[in-house]
Formats: sequence, structure tokens, C-alpha cells
Amino acid sequence: MSQIIVMASGKGGTGKSTVSAGLSVSLAKQGKKVLLIDCDCGMRGLDLMLGVEKDVVFDVSDVVCGNCDYSKAIYQVEDAGGLYLMSAPIDASEEVSPSVMKQITQELSDNYDYILIDAPAGVGSSFDTAIEPAQRAVIVVNAEPTSVRGCLNVRKKLTDKGITDIRLIINRFNERNFRTMGIYKDLDEVIDVCKTQLIGLVPDDIRIATLMQRGCGKDCWSSAGVVFDCIVSRIMGINVPLAYGM
Ligand SMILES: Nc1ncnc2c1ncn2[C@@H]1O[C@H](COP(=O)(O)OP(=O)(O)OP(=O)(O)O)[C@@H](O)[C@H]1O
Ligand SMILES: [Mg+2]
Repeated sequence: MSQIIVMASGKGGTGKSTVSAGLSVSLAKQGKKVLLIDCDCGMRGLDLMLGVEKDVVFDVSDVVCGNCDYSKAIYQVEDAGGLYLMSAPIDASEEVSPSVMKQITQELSDNYDYILIDAPAGVGSSFDTAIEPAQRAVIVVNAEPTSVRGCLNVRKKLTDKGITDIRLIINRFNERNFRTMGIYKDLDEVIDVCKTQLIGLVPDDIRIATLMQRGCGKDCWSSAGVVFDCIVSRIMGINVPLAYGM
């Protein structure tokens, strides 16, 4: 049985996909079999981040329409151990319903240790699809009020749905900018206003952005990926300190 974790944010662009890719690579590196589901229908990007965009012919909607079976719509990411990707449709009109997404993850659950679902921005219908099968959630925020508001909206949606195992990742953190902005006294205040327990702090790091944007996400443990290794340990229940600063 897989653990199914949805990566959400409410506000767009906080780094959900980047962090989803980083955590998936890191989980696979630690010997786990991982299925990463891109649920950003119409705006998928994980195929690019993991460098498999040329391989991807079929997506989840093809399975639903009967154009292919799972084996053709799930792509193993080369050189990333047991990491597999199922892409979202490019055409937003081919969105999968929440009940169908739940059925898909149930059918695949025995084959993977972890299923990570990368949710879209906002709390629209694709978001409902992304959260439907999840047992756990990670909310990815930036340390700024607009992002925090998104976190609270998403958190409410998740708890209304009965998902209570929710953790926070503060992404793109830059101490100097944080202090210059002067909105929050410290990170504890950000965590308090997000009303969510912190599981990881990811620095604003051009190495992370560069690897993903170049399609080299699968290499992200090489230097910058240490931060994802640390979060993955905590996801697996191992109590390690927050890695920050690298
Ligand atoms: N830790 C980081 N350091 C530097 N840049 C980052 C980091 N995380 C994400 N980025 C950059 O932030 C931008 C948004 O990232 P990403 O696409 O992962 O966000 P998203 O939340 O998935 O967006 P969307 O809501 O559109 O799906 C990208 O340009 C990405 O390279
Ligand atoms: Mg995204």
C-alpha cells in the first residue's frame, strides 16, 4: 500500500512542482518506489523538470479514455532509481474527475511505496481531483502574506475533506530578504500564522531552479538536493534536524 501525499499551496508559483520533483527524486534515491502524478491539468511541467518530456506520449486522460493502459502512461525516470511519472493532460478540457483519480491511485497503490500528487495552483476543480485520494498533505509556501493566505485556504479545504496529517514547507527562503521585508518577526511567526507544523525549509537557491528548469531534476541530490533528503527523512518519520544553508 502506498502512502499518498498531495503537494498543495493555494497561491500559484510557491514551488510545489519543484519541491515535488525534489522530494520524489530523494525518496527514490533512498530506495523507495515512487509514483509522481502531475495533476496540473493544462499546465503540466514535471515532465520537463525531470527531463522526460520527449518520452511522454500518453497521460492520465489516455488511461481514462482507454487509449492505453497504465504501463504506457507511467514513465520511469532514467537514472533516478524507482521514480515514475504520470503526466497531466496538456489539454485542460481532459481533466480527470476526483472519483476517477481516487480509483486510479487505488489501482496503483500496491505497486509503489509513495504516490506524490503535484496539485495545481488555486482551489478549483483540478485541486479537488488532486486532494481526493490523499492521506497526507504538504503545503508549500513562501514566507509572505499572500502565500500564507493561500496556505490557510488550502488547509481549510484539506481539513474539510478529512485530511488532518498536514505539514508545511517554507520554500524559497532567503534570510536577508525576509529581514528586509520585515513583515514577520521570525520564521516561528510564519509557522504560527500558517497554523501548520513545519517539515522543511528550502532556501531560495538558483541551483535548485537551474536543475529543474534544465530538466535535470533527477540530479538534484548532487548538490542542492541535500535539503530534500532531509525533508524526506522527516516524511519517513526519521527525526533529523532541518537542513538549511547547505
Ligand atoms: N527553492 C527554490 N529556489 C529558487 N527558485 C525556485 C525554488 N523553488 C522554485 N523556484 C522557482 O520558482 C518558480 C515557480 O516554481 P514551480 O513551478 O515549482 O512553482 P509551482 O508552485 O509549482 O507553480 P504553479 O502554481 O504554477 O504550479 C520557478 O521559476 C522555479 O524555478
Ligand atoms: Mg506547479
